[in-house]
Amino acid sequence: MLDVSIARSTLPTSGAILLPVEEGGAAKAATRAGLDKATGGAVGRALEAAEFKGKKGQTVTILAPGAGISRVVAVGIGKLAELAPLGAEEAGGSGIAQLSREPAVSALAEGLSATQAAHFALGAVLRAYRFDRYRTNEKPEEKPRLASLALLVSDPAEVEKAWAPMPAIVEGVFLTRDLVSEPPNVLTPPEFAKRIEGLTKLGLKVEVFGQKEMAKLGFGALLGVAQGSAQEPRMVVIEWHGTGEAGGGGGKGKKKATEKPRPIAFVGKGVTFDTGGISIKPAAGMEDMKWDMAGAGAVVGLMAALAGRKAKVDAVGLVGLVENMPSGTAQRPGDVVKTYSGQTVEIINTDAEGRMVLADVLWYCQEKFEPRFMIDLATLTGAMVVTLGHEIGGFFSNDDTLARQLHEAGEATGEKLWRMPLGEAYDKQLKSDIADMKHVAGRPGGAITSAQFIQRFVNGKPWAHLDIAGMAWSSKDAPTVPKGATAYGVRLLDTLVASNFEK
Ligand code: BES
Ligand code: MN
Ligand code: ZN
Repeated sequence: MLDVSIARSTLPTSGAILLPVEEGGAAKAATRAGLDKATGGAVGRALEAAEFKGKKGQTVTILAPGAGISRVVAVGIGKLAELAPLGAEEAGGSGIAQLSREPAVSALAEGLSATQAAHFALGAVLRAYRFDRYRTNEKPEEKPRLASLALLVSDPAEVEKAWAPMPAIVEGVFLTRDLVSEPPNVLTPPEFAKRIEGLTKLGLKVEVFGQKEMAKLGFGALLGVAQGSAQEPRMVVIEWHGTGEAGGGGGKGKKKATEKPRPIAFVGKGVTFDTGGISIKPAAGMEDMKWDMAGAGAVVGLMAALAGRKAKVDAVGLVGLVENMPSGTAQRPGDVVKTYSGQTVEIINTDAEGRMVLADVLWYCQEKFEPRFMIDLATLTGAMVVTLGHEIGGFFSNDDTLARQLHEAGEATGEKLWRMPLGEAYDKQLKSDIADMKHVAGRPGGAITSAQFIQRFVNGKPWAHLDIAGMAWSSKDAPTVPKGATAYGVRLLDTLVASNFEK
């Protein structure tokens, strides 16, 4: 990530300047840290000539105004008193996007509150992400040079305090973006599990289950998906004990069952590549299915963020990692599998694999940890994309309080959510003539019937299901999210935890 430093406002003598400008406050902003004086009034004049009004998200670039400064990017923040953290992030992101060729940027953030300034920097850092591991021949003039951001403020100590948890959140988001961006020949289930094991350095406890262990447990649903692939599946259980209390289910120093502190739980669909299996997908756009592990990616990034910022909460993250391939050993439509819960399922379409993975992992999660609630994330259905597009994620819940908390966290972080209905009439459509249920109903209400299927594996426990199929990958730049892997869910759930579940 960008190297961020926080210091008292003084005008830098070189590099570039990022200048947040309040609506109608261009002339005043230009005087910050003596900028206008040092440049002989060039910045103020340029902003006036550009008719820059400081409207939210608006930017203007001033080249070589003098005093050794390479360029000034003014970014509008609207009315200062109305600038929420999310708005500050978006301004920081929109501004930094104009500065990718500048190695050293100083943000003159004097006048912003500590919270606003910290979120302004957070937005800038989040936008400056780039996945370039596999680019070998980029010309130097095409490569971004941005390396450091000096946040210049009037009260550095206050801003430091607001900034303190943010690097950990950024690391979590970037970890997720890296995982989701990786090609499917690299990020196989075993490789994914290996990378998660690397997180023990943050104080997370990581346990990996292989094919054998899951067969022994009776994970017939997950293993049915994996059986067509040459890659072995994995389930990874990640534990964060942040309350200092013992227990959390299976952890060391386990207390009596009655007094065991109950963690909160997150479960992710991790299909490292989804061909559809025997019910194979059309060729066009199939490469997108490398990010069919974005739910698992978000759970992993979230756990890294919680551990990195030492969140005062006990949380577990579980991911089911499989590759869905067609082959001579692959599952067939018509197969009947026995899930870990004991319920049997008739396979209708092998492309509806995500819910099968979640079924076993969710049942295991509630049985093993008795969590206060479970939230699953999955790129589950094309039907959800048809419903809400790429603007808002859809979610389902059997718990109104959890639903409200999720919705609020969505509004606060900009990772928006909209609640979808569950109901008996949808559930009925899963009736099978041969097994306890089938896993797919008809096309109508496809996102809803898939949620109904998943609900059959939460054992009546408080739960929410986030169908993030439309949100995991973006084809266009957004203020704090460059196009590509979004890491949708990490900020959302980190905020959900911070606002509701930390002591
Ligand atoms: N991974 C897909 C869902 C998906 C589609 C995610 C498009 C992102 C973009 C999932 O496994 C799938 O194939 N779902 C099927 C279910 C159907 C066979 C009932 C779908 O939505 O078409
Ligand atoms: Mn599929
Ligand atoms: Zn899938």
